[in-house]
Amino acid sequence: MLRSPLAKFLMTGISLFAAFHPAAAQDGVPPIARTRSPDGWLVKTRSSTYQLVITAGGTVVPAFYGPGEQAGYQKRNAEWTTRIDEVPVRGGFPFKTPAVEVVFADGVRNLDLKYEHGEVVRVEGSPTLKITLRDTHYPLEVVSYIRDLREFNVLEKWMVIRNLDKKNEVTVENAMSGSIVLPKNQYTLTQLAGKPLNEFQLYESLLSPGLKVLENKTFKSSFNPPWFAVRPYGSGGTQGPVWFGSLHYSGNWRLEFDQQFDGPLQILGGVNFWDTRVRLHPGASYQTPKLAVGYTDQGLEGAQQDLTAYIRKTVLPEAHREDPRPVIFNGYYASALHINESQQIALARKAARIGVEMFVVDDGWFKGREDPNSGLGDWVVDSVKFPHGLTALIREVNRLGMQFGIWVEPENLDMNSDLFRAHPDWVLHDPTRPSTAKRRMLNLAKPEVYDYLLASLTKLLRENDIAYLKWDQNNFLSAVGWPDAPKGEERAVLVDYIHNLYRLVDTLRKRFPNVWFESCSSGGGRVDLGMMSRMDLAWISDNTYALNRLFIQYGYLSAMPASTMLSFVVDKIGNIYRPATSLDFRFDVAMMGVLGISDNIMNWSKSDLALAARKIALYKQIRPLVQKGTLYRLVSPFETNREALQYVSSDSSSAVVMAYQMAKYLPQSQLSSRGSEVLRLRGLKPSARYRVSRAADTGDSGTVHEGGFLMQVGIGWPLNTEDSSVILRITPAA
Ligand code: DGJ
Repeated sequence: MLRSPLAKFLMTGISLFAAFHPAAAQDGVPPIARTRSPDGWLVKTRSSTYQLVITAGGTVVPAFYGPGEQAGYQKRNAEWTTRIDEVPVRGGFPFKTPAVEVVFADGVRNLDLKYEHGEVVRVEGSPTLKITLRDTHYPLEVVSYIRDLREFNVLEKWMVIRNLDKKNEVTVENAMSGSIVLPKNQYTLTQLAGKPLNEFQLYESLLSPGLKVLENKTFKSSFNPPWFAVRPYGSGGTQGPVWFGSLHYSGNWRLEFDQQFDGPLQILGGVNFWDTRVRLHPGASYQTPKLAVGYTDQGLEGAQQDLTAYIRKTVLPEAHREDPRPVIFNGYYASALHINESQQIALARKAARIGVEMFVVDDGWFKGREDPNSGLGDWVVDSVKFPHGLTALIREVNRLGMQFGIWVEPENLDMNSDLFRAHPDWVLHDPTRPSTAKRRMLNLAKPEVYDYLLASLTKLLRENDIAYLKWDQNNFLSAVGWPDAPKGEERAVLVDYIHNLYRLVDTLRKRFPNVWFESCSSGGGRVDLGMMSRMDLAWISDNTYALNRLFIQYGYLSAMPASTMLSFVVDKIGNIYRPATSLDFRFDVAMMGVLGISDNIMNWSKSDLALAARKIALYKQIRPLVQKGTLYRLVSPFETNREALQYVSSDSSSAVVMAYQMAKYLPQSQLSSRGSEVLRLRGLKPSARYRVSRAADTGDSGTVHEGGFLMQVGIGWPLNTEDSSVILRITPAA
């Protein structure tokens, strides 16, 4: 019924009254504006428009999300948008996947939300559309936010559900962060998937009619970030429309892709309410985490560049956002738990000589840590391994000109630990289901667990000059019981846990503002924007075998900036050495993000150490480009046996190219004749002149070309042996 009046609205064109909104207009276009005809709102980013229409009946409809110029879509949109609301709920016709599902005190499960009012507010400095909806019968309010990160083509969506009832409770059974609706079409989904030792693998699939769900139920993020990119079927590469998104949440999450038959695609993201219920007492509210969504017309490359710039410049913790990430030594893959003071001091002396800046002691330093199943939970230094506490080691590390870092795994404990013996009720458990697991997860939803962790980590950081904390979590959720939970709160444990985890890290960061934080969870099990708004960088896989790493790192860089991607020089899968690639190759692979070393450098020869010193010196020179430049992924290892990445400065005046070859092409073979002899660069100024030289070879004066030539014609593929690599510097030439 609504279809024709709405179509009429849309056909009349959109008239803005920009004066209404308080946010400053950029390029003459207000980022968020109220529209009169049709009645609604426009949210603009650099190259996208998000349009909401308020129907005569008070329903808020997402009329359009796509390119800045949306006029051509108006009529078509009017035909489908009436079926999916901006905040789709359980209630009315189930044509959509609901973002909000509640149960009222009288048992009614249908929601009926209508527009109350909209306004533009500022959230953390950015204009934000705040739409308030009210249920037509019950005193329940849903406030839906859209924050405009214009420069990055990103919108952040989240919701607040408020129980305004003075007497009755409401139970929230589902509350997603937001939903977006893409025009009627067929779409290809790009996603990441993984498992320990094989994280961040890229997959593509056609979204056929039906519901596709990506989710995590173990707190392990499925070994990839909750990220997606969707594009019209048949398009791809560096051009064309792409919608993308990433969720700010580290607990159980869900991304849903509801492709209607011959219709639009609805995408939702948020907390996975599987086995979760949140009770709202009278006056209480529940806020969802943020879902970042974006639209670009620059293909998957534009999506990757917009999203990673948004993360680097607005999401990562402010304290170290602009600081160069240090070159790290972490001894875990050299000696696992078998560590002691003199051995660490010997390693530190070698590490300092080759140019390491941050010396990190991993697992094994604390009381009772004789094997991987004991000691966890007691955050006190082992006085046998470290007779002088950590002081002597830290003093030596600092004297050598490095900073000191340490590993912790606060959320778990071993049953063989003093903490478990004292507080067996602090772990998640059901008394009737005895567990055989040796390592258990603390119930961080419990206030006393939170207090214990805050106190013990504060003590550790206060008593020692620690500049870097590696925060690990090596457990999967199972048997999530909380026997003494406050009545009715049992099923809020999973969201309360994450809430307290964030509070814990936030409080520690406030108390120790200069400390760097690294996120780790059995490798890359916790890399999401919720955690990465609190952590400066991440350990992304325990698979450090350089050839595997080419895939893992390429996948990771689809969704996260290089400045967060820690990579070690050491050829291991888990803790087992694999046939080593050359040290040179391993360094070049580890330089793609934040360079670290974890091999046993005591065994390195003089020439190995000299090579390492040269590589680290080179890394320090190219670090600003790698960590802050714009990344162009020129060649994907998922398509060929090669990989090439190019990092370009913000003014396009210089760049660095990293190229890798896994296997040799037979001369004159089909592969070598299919254009693979050429490497075309991107992101340069067409008429500027650039010198292209091999970074490792200081005697190489290189060749000079115009940017247009490098981008259109390209340079010869610089490698032709297996497991080989090269780093090319692209510098301005006269
Ligand atoms: C798992 C991590 O991924 C490793 O880097 C290491 O820190 C171990 N845990 C230590 O137990």
